[in-house]
This record gives sequence, structure tokens and C-alpha cells, in this order.
Amino acid sequence: MADVKLAIIYYSSTGTVHSMATRLKEAGEKAGAEVRLRQVAELAPAEAIASNAAWSQHFDQTKNEPKATADDVVWADAVLFGTPTRYGNVASQLKQFIDTLGPQWGQGLLANKAYAGFTSTMTEHGGQESTLLALYNTIYHFGGIVVAPGYTDPLKFADGNPYGVSHVTGGNNDAPLGDAQYAALDHLASRIVTIGGKLR
Ligand SMILES: Cc1cc2nc3c(=O)[nH]c(=O)nc-3n(C[C@H](O)[C@H](O)[C@H](O)COP(=O)(O)O)c2cc1C
Repeated sequence: MADVKLAIIYYSSTGTVHSMATRLKEAGEKAGAEVRLRQVAELAPAEAIASNAAWSQHFDQTKNEPKATADDVVWADAVLFGTPTRYGNVASQLKQFIDTLGPQWGQGLLANKAYAGFTSTMTEHGGQESTLLALYNTIYHFGGIVVAPGYTDPLKFADGNPYGVSHVTGGNNDAPLGDAQYAALDHLASRIVTIGGKLR
């Protein structure tokens, strides 16, 4: 839908959620939206990052990407938040960004927009649903409209997550995104652009 503004705001340690966010950007643009892809700031101490080669590598590769600001959420008609699971919950880096939005929340500037989430876990039952539902608690407080994908397209029976889009990275944390995830990401982006446009 033309002129819809889509903000994709995410955190990623080792690149999975970054890849999902990148695909969502492409799909959002194909759906006609103006897209801001924004990483939230890394908060972990340098020694924690240095202890994990994949984390260090991803940090170095993406440290100069544009960082999310409150204006990115205020600007948008539709917002997609992405986070890897942390003990079945939202990563603190994304939560910290959300927790800086009090002034905008207080002015009602976060309400009446379309919101949805995407996540990744290492294991199949490692908390994708709990992470997305925890994320959506915040959206209710915003007065946002949760645009869950549900099973609104047959492709959702392949990725199997009606709460958002998710990926299992596997025991070595290195399983790449597959066709089912790409299709579900494309569907999520197109759906939130359409509904964000209608809400605007
Ligand atoms: C502190 C911590 C907690 C985690 N908790 C979970 C968890 O509860 N369930 C799970 O399956 N994976 C868990 N993981 C694995 C990450 O979710 C997984 O590495 C992540 O989805 C990869 O995303 P990224 O490449 O975008 O960082 C955890 C990882 C860390 C570092």
C-alpha cells in the first residue's frame, strides 16, 4: 500500500533476527511501504560479546547500522519488533529501547498503529510464543493494534506460528532461515503494511 510508513526495530546478537528483519524490509518495500530498518543499541559488556565469536562478528559487521529512536515509532503507521528469545522473553536490549518510550506513550503517540513481532530461539519449544506474547503486553499499553498473522494464509501452516514469525536456529545456533520462514516473513510484512494503511 503506497505511502505507508513501516518501522522494523530489532535486536540481534548473532544475526538470525537481523536476517529476518532484512527480509521484512525487502517485503515491506515490495508491498509499497516506506521502510525504516533500525537496530537497537547493544548494551552487553564488551567481554560478554568477546566471549562468543558469532556475536563479536555480527556486532562488528552491524555496529554502524542506523540505531532506533523514539521518532521511528512515532513516525510509523506500522511497527515490527524483532528479538531473539532470552529465557522465553524479550531481549533486554529491545526492552531497554521500549522502556525509553515513556514520553511518547504519555502523549498517546504510540497508539492506533499496527504492531507485530518476530523472534528466534535455539530450540523448538524454547519460548517463541511466550516471547511474542510478552512483547505484545507492551503493545496493549501503547493502545496499539496487534496484527497477529494468525492462519490468514495457507503458508502459515508451514511456519506454524499464528502469533508472529519465528525461526528455530538449532543446537549449534546456525540453522539458516528456510522457505517457510521467508514466506511467513513476506506475508507478515505485506499484511501489516495493508492493515497499517487502513488504520492510518
Ligand atoms: C541469555 C540467553 C538466553 C537464551 N534463552 C533461550 C531460550 O529461552 N530458548 C531458546 O530456545 N533459546 C534461547 N537462547 C538462544 C537464542 O534465542 C538464539 O541464540 C537466538 O534466537 C539467535 O538469534 P540471533 O542470531 O538474532 O541473536 C538464549 C540465548 C542467550 C544468550
